[in-house]
Amino acid sequence: MKQQPGWALPDLRAAQKRTKTESVIERSLFQIPSEIKQLGQGKKYYLRTYGCQANERDSETIAGILEELMFIPVNVPEEADLVILNTCAVRKNAEDKVLGEMGSLKRLQRDNPDVIFGLCGCMAQEEEVVNLLLEKYRHVKLIFGTHNIHRLPELLYDVMLGGKRSVEVLSKEGEVIENLPVKRFGKHKAWVNIMYGCDKFCTYCIVPYTRGKERSRTMEDVLEEIRELKNEGYKEVTLLGQNVNSYGKDLHIEKGFAALLEETAKIGIDRIRFTTSHPWDFSDEMIDVIAKYDNIMPFIHLPVQSGDSDMLKIMGRRYTREEYLTLFHKIKDKVKNCAFSTDIIVGFPNETEEQFQQTLSLVDECKFDNAYTFIYSPREGTPAAKMDDNVSLEVKQRRLAELNERWNVYANEKNMAYQGQIVKVLVDGVSKKNKEVYSGYTETNKLVNFSATDVKPGDIVNVRITACKTFSLDGEMC
Ligand code: 5AD
Ligand code: SF4
Repeated sequence: MKQQPGWALPDLRAAQKRTKTESVIERSLFQIPSEIKQLGQGKKYYLRTYGCQANERDSETIAGILEELMFIPVNVPEEADLVILNTCAVRKNAEDKVLGEMGSLKRLQRDNPDVIFGLCGCMAQEEEVVNLLLEKYRHVKLIFGTHNIHRLPELLYDVMLGGKRSVEVLSKEGEVIENLPVKRFGKHKAWVNIMYGCDKFCTYCIVPYTRGKERSRTMEDVLEEIRELKNEGYKEVTLLGQNVNSYGKDLHIEKGFAALLEETAKIGIDRIRFTTSHPWDFSDEMIDVIAKYDNIMPFIHLPVQSGDSDMLKIMGRRYTREEYLTLFHKIKDKVKNCAFSTDIIVGFPNETEEQFQQTLSLVDECKFDNAYTFIYSPREGTPAAKMDDNVSLEVKQRRLAELNERWNVYANEKNMAYQGQIVKVLVDGVSKKNKEVYSGYTETNKLVNFSATDVKPGDIVNVRITACKTFSLDGEMC
């Protein structure tokens, strides 16, 4: 593939570098040049998001930018003049799905030869993927990385008016870019980025390479955004970061995330959530703040990954089984009725049956309310991808099934305890399955389907639980 002038291609090795230099906060990097202001007039866009909440939030920025350029959103790619896939690189099978989808979208050119296809997000940060797109997916004209979203107007202009392919993927450590447009997809629940990137470098994970170094937004910028959301009528904010516990370390903010969480609580928005917390640097101050404020929800996502200390060491997780359990019980003791979810990887290279049994026994002890479980997927450029592996796919699949069976028992048990209880539910809207039923979430993040009269999305109502299932609760408003 021939490098074209003006292209900036990804470089995973460069993305691994971390320096001590402080990140720059850019407040006026985003501008729409006057000749581009109406680029999207009369045109429609379709945006599909894969992966985590950070991607969801990035899509809100991409949609905000496109709508400032006068593009109009549509719900199906068939109606669009611009189709963008915002992708996730965490596991290979999800990547393969995206590539399959991108291949199949080419068919749209038969009816609309001018349709533009774009790919962004974490997959765009991978050399392997970009090279493949450039060589084999020639219909994809726009590729931009996680650090380049603010450049979308110019990149799109080059494709639409210059007839060129636009490729801009920087592998730099990144800056914090403020004042980007946003089109919030939710009307009463909002995502709020508090930091970007990750410096943990767990040996299996590609995120530190695709999203750059840990860098925090200033506390004032975050709090101002939350105050505005509250004034606009939002009821819930979720503070986002790959590891929120690290918030503020780069800015030398005393008590970092605990301080931010406390100031957020004082703003008085009804519900505060956060994700994700690494068990390694979950501080006592954080636990105290969560326990102290009623508007910080008693629900913690605490990824364990494995229940075996040797395995955790090879994964680069920086805690042992015992340390995880101590933290888990400390939170459980201090935060009333706290619910927990976790992430677990099975079939990491050379995982023994005993090590897997340790994971099951940790699940027995923690009895998580919810778990996201995965078969290990080797990611090019990460240390684990170079390890030999003596575990067959068959064994990995069996372990995954066994693990799922096990945590489902506890999820069900946890839900059964809600029978007859009255819980507070933030109403999302009518249920997907039954138009006469509403749905929403409890403070502990349980999905509730309930009958009610005279409620609207965004209300917080009392619901009596009448039936409990493994993944949801049924009830009636009271
Ligand atoms: N293979 C499988 N699962 C992974 N995760 C991250 N990297 C990989 C990988 N290479 C999982 C971890 C993480 C979650 C977001 O995705 O469990 O917590
Ligand atoms: Fe990946 Fe570990 Fe960072 Fe989470 S903490 S994003 S698993 S490197």
